[in-house]
Amino acid sequence: MMKVFLALTSVLLSLAAARPTCPKKPTPSTSATTSAYGSATTTPSTNATNATATPAAGGYSNSTSGTRLATGWYPGWGADKFSPSQIPWDKYSALTYAFAVTTPDDSFFKISDDPSVLTEFVSQAHAHNVKALVSIGGYTGSRYFSSSVSTPENRTAFATALMDFATKNQLDGLDFEYAMDFIPLDSHILTYIPIAESTRTSREVRQKAPKDFQLTAAVAMTPFNGPDGKPMSDVSSFAQVLNHIAIMAYDVYGTWSETGAGPNAPIQDTCAPTQKQLGSCASAVKAWSDAGIPANQLVLGVPAYGRSYTVASSAVGGYAQKLAEYPTFDKNLVPLGTGETRTQTKDECGVEQGPGGIFNYNDMVARGFIDSQGNAGSGLTYQFDNCSQTAYIYNSTSQVLINYDTADTYKAKGNFIKEQNLAGFAMWSIDTDTADGTLAGAIRSTM
Ligand SMILES: *[C@@H]1O[C@H](CO)[C@@H](O)[C@H](O)[C@H]1NC(C)=O
Ligand SMILES: *[C@@H]1O[C@H](CO)[C@@H](O)[C@H](O)[C@H]1NC(C)=O
Ligand SMILES: *[C@@H]1O[C@H](CO)[C@@H](O)[C@H](O)[C@H]1NC(C)=O
Ligand SMILES: *[C@@H]1O[C@H](CO)[C@@H](O)[C@H](O)[C@H]1NC(C)=O
Ligand SMILES: *[C@@H]1O[C@H](CO)[C@@H](O)[C@H](O)[C@H]1NC(C)=O
Ligand SMILES: *[C@@H]1O[C@H](CO)[C@@H](O)[C@H](O)[C@H]1NC(C)=O
Repeated sequence: MMKVFLALTSVLLSLAAARPTCPKKPTPSTSATTSAYGSATTTPSTNATNATATPAAGGYSNSTSGTRLATGWYPGWGADKFSPSQIPWDKYSALTYAFAVTTPDDSFFKISDDPSVLTEFVSQAHAHNVKALVSIGGYTGSRYFSSSVSTPENRTAFATALMDFATKNQLDGLDFEYAMDFIPLDSHILTYIPIAESTRTSREVRQKAPKDFQLTAAVAMTPFNGPDGKPMSDVSSFAQVLNHIAIMAYDVYGTWSETGAGPNAPIQDTCAPTQKQLGSCASAVKAWSDAGIPANQLVLGVPAYGRSYTVASSAVGGYAQKLAEYPTFDKNLVPLGTGETRTQTKDECGVEQGPGGIFNYNDMVARGFIDSQGNAGSGLTYQFDNCSQTAYIYNSTSQVLINYDTADTYKAKGNFIKEQNLAGFAMWSIDTDTADGTLAGAIRSTM
């Protein structure tokens, strides 16, 4: 158990290092306090029956490809570099502002960044006929969910506050980031998210909301853990409350990985050696489908960033243009990714943050590592991994290996969405695609 805890802690620490402010995180699975989850399915009020979610509302219609959601998260804290007016709105049918963070007081949550950015975001979205949502929670932003949803009184007050906020800001929906089991690294501030109570809260919001109001959530690659610490076999009650859930199908491999460097966001992994199969878009979709979420309520989360490793030339493979798969890397020397420094700082959760080796896609283009489509810049070794459908580039001078999604990866993911009849895609995060939305355009062109 301790070993598991330490391993998970190191995952969380590595992930915490990834982005300076309230990053969207994959869930390190833990035996969290999701007891009583089943009670989330308790008899809904009469309104709830009427309020059953419609799958993938808010999608765009394309007579060729049908109706799919083209969505992603817009980080409010990045507005000075990427303002709402710079968003390539024609690529999206809905976008979600990140984040409104939970608070310990009776306001329950707040926009932690400049609120005028949200106003501008919503107004721009509506001017472009794109739905505007706000995401509640996020990594450090989720930490007061527990108290907000712990009693019937608080749930009702929280739900009321959410709908007042949505009405005031003319939102088309709310996205919940509660659906994560966090490790209480510091029990004073970072607490488990009680899934059952959170679901009841969402249901209350649903009951108060207009008919076409969107309720969504971002989730890990495996269904929520039950009381036994294992992914639950039936989470179908979520499908009644939420229009869709976005699977954060990324961060599969990173600088915390024990089995060498590997793909950040593989489509498939069954073609990889068994011990390297740590999860893929395919396995994640299957896991959530098997647990009762219909495919047309599943949205595929896609990363507009790569993850890097320091890999000695000797570990990369001895011949030109062929990179070794899953090479060992130097855990003590994480490459400095976009905007990263070696300085260790403590985040709001008291977690030490250092570099995570994450390179934003547009930054890789700006640095000449790749062209806008994701092809390698000159002087770099390139390998497209047919199994994961992701690419590697390697700089033998700096010894930096980066795995990332190319425009071709995005097209392959669009095909995957179409084949599996998923609701669409959700990009983390839309500010790291190229200015004209190369990746969003690529995935739309095939789904
Ligand atoms: C709710 O659904 C019930 C049964 O389907 C229906 O009779 C009722 O009119 C609906 N109420 C509203 C407000 O739509
Ligand atoms: C209910 O919410 C209030 C205000 O946000 C908070 O102070 C209180 O601790 C919550 N109740 C519980 C039992 O968590
Ligand atoms: C049921 O829905 C109606 C119309 O959307 C709303 O006015 C009413 O407050 C809801 N009732 C409850 C108990 O949420
Ligand atoms: C990868 O797949 C492409 C297209 O399916 C094929 O042309 C290519 O030969 C494959 N490469 C390897 C190394 O298997
Ligand atoms: C490779 O790394 C070296 C050393 O850091 C750097 O000078 C060079 O510009 C890099 N090459 C590319 C194509 O980025
Ligand atoms: C509609 O789908 C087709 C084929 O999937 C694609 O080529 C086209 O760009 C799409 N149109 C829009 C408006 O997204």
